[in-house]
Amino acid sequence: MRYHHEAAGAELVTNGPFRAPYVVVEDFMPSAVALEMRAIAEMHLGNPYQHSIKTHANWDYWYVPGLYSYLRTDPERVLGARLMGMFRSRLAQWTAERFGHFPVRQCYLSLYINGCRQGQHNDAANGRFGYVYSLTKDDRRTIGGETLIWNEENYFESRMHQPAWGSAFYQSISPRFNRLLVFDDRMPHSVQLVEGGMDPIEGRLVIHGHIQEAGPLISGPLPREAVLAAADELVRRLASELGRSALVYHGPATIRFTVRSEGTVTAAEVIMDRVKRLGGQGPPAAEMLTRLVDKVTQLRFKHATEDTNVILPFAF
Ligand SMILES: [Fe+2]
Repeated sequence: MRYHHEAAGAELVTNGPFRAPYVVVEDFMPSAVALEMRAIAEMHLGNPYQHSIKTHANWDYWYVPGLYSYLRTDPERVLGARLMGMFRSRLAQWTAERFGHFPVRQCYLSLYINGCRQGQHNDAANGRFGYVYSLTKDDRRTIGGETLIWNEENYFESRMHQPAWGSAFYQSISPRFNRLLVFDDRMPHSVQLVEGGMDPIEGRLVIHGHIQEAGPLISGPLPREAVLAAADELVRRLASELGRSALVYHGPATIRFTVRSEGTVTAAEVIMDRVKRLGGQGPPAAEMLTRLVDKVTQLRFKHATEDTNVILPFAF
């Protein structure tokens, strides 16, 4: 599996914690599975004389004035439970390695033909990360359909004095076949207007949705309740230490650690950090997280038969 950040100079996700505003994963599904998904989608979207109310009248033309215009449906209805099950478990495995337990919530299969687009918006209330998995063919007879994500910088402080266009303001991620894009849901984003023909085979076809943290991933004998109680205690202690400053942090972070059989904690490290500091008083977000890691290291658990590995997400 290859990892590739299109943002120039962005860190590689395999080196240290995940801190980038987005990540692009090429060849996300095994090639044979992706090709089968595409073939089934083409069979569904093509063959116009085979369409019936029963099989095809489940597409929602979602039009929100000034914001959205595209077609969407439940991906299982088109791709079937077996392929979607494979997609969901692959995504769950990928997110578990990167972020911890971030289950896949409801997702859509969306089709963008000529004139379809998404205007600028964020999904700050829809999840922690949004994802877009593309089944669009690479040699299509349309243009557009790129996901545009704002750069994570203060333009007014950095480059307002220079002429600027396009990628000076945002990153453009094209819907390449079998490519997964995952991005911080708080980042403003849009989908570039698709222009070209009306043939659905030539359009932008993607599975998309959101993921959000849902408790720790635990492998080992330590009971889940003990980890949850320790996590509650950590958050309480940090909050009382920070006082009102606790309110200036926003976003998810995940800490991985090992509880030794004798109950001490080792190898505590941040594996994902998207905590941002809003306006107000308080130490930098990185310092706050360092304090949290120190508190994790100081935890003590009951003796157990062997070591337990924990991946624990926090939400600020
Ligand atoms: Fe969105």
